[in-house]
Amino acid sequence: MERKVIETGDGSKTLFIPEMNEQYHSVNGAITESTHVYLNAGYKHHKTETPYLFEVGFGTGLNALLTAVEAEKQKRKTTYTTIEKFPLDMKLIEDLNYGKLISEEAEALFTKIHTAKWGEEIQISEYFKMLKIEADLIAFNFADTQNFDLIYFDAFGPDKQPAMWEREVFDKIFKVSNPEAVFVTYSAKGEIRRQLRDCGYMMERLPGPPGKRQMLRGTKPAD
Ligand SMILES: C[S@@+](CC[C@H](N)C(=O)[O-])C[C@H]1O[C@@H](n2cnc3c(N)ncnc32)[C@H](O)[C@@H]1O
Repeated sequence: MERKVIETGDGSKTLFIPEMNEQYHSVNGAITESTHVYLNAGYKHHKTETPYLFEVGFGTGLNALLTAVEAEKQKRKTTYTTIEKFPLDMKLIEDLNYGKLISEEAEALFTKIHTAKWGEEIQISEYFKMLKIEADLIAFNFADTQNFDLIYFDAFGPDKQPAMWEREVFDKIFKVSNPEAVFVTYSAKGEIRRQLRDCGYMMERLPGPPGKRQMLRGTKPAD
């Protein structure tokens, strides 16, 4: 599938897939959207000292990078598991240049995140450990021992890839989440909110990033 590098509203870049007419981030600002939805409404909102994260769709690694930078800043031991069915070519990742745009520290982290072997838990930095899983989320079976505190649900849009937004997928993630786990996504669709609520999450609609009125956050009830 062809992917083109495009510039977004905040000057950071993202990838556009002409065949799907879909991009990896908001055209109004890739870094702005990731920071708003995943960092601010997710990572900074959840108060666990040593969060276990699960990300749906590693893609360009932008969410992982922003989380690693924040983990180092907060000195918060973070374990980040991410799943991706279609890993990107290094050439495209280099063109995106996210590390350079953020800081020197981020540049080094971005390289480590992308050169980390798939399928192995790797200590990327003092406070950030990562496991990249190359697999299809729809067919994926989690180990029963998994227990996530925070879910970044960053699949392509529900209208572009509806199979990723099915109740069964949400149910299996819910099952491997801790009490009070937080689920964040950029989508604000009523149908998605209802599915997540039916799974068991207590749902909130929050203000969205630029160009989007709302986003969703779910919290798993305490035991
Ligand atoms: C919106 S993009 C993710 C953006 C990413 N979080 C980032 O920061 O760049 C959606 C991602 O989900 C991946 N994906 C699509 N279908 C998948 C599947 N069945 N299982 C796992 N990942 C999938 C895509 O390849 C793409 O990288």
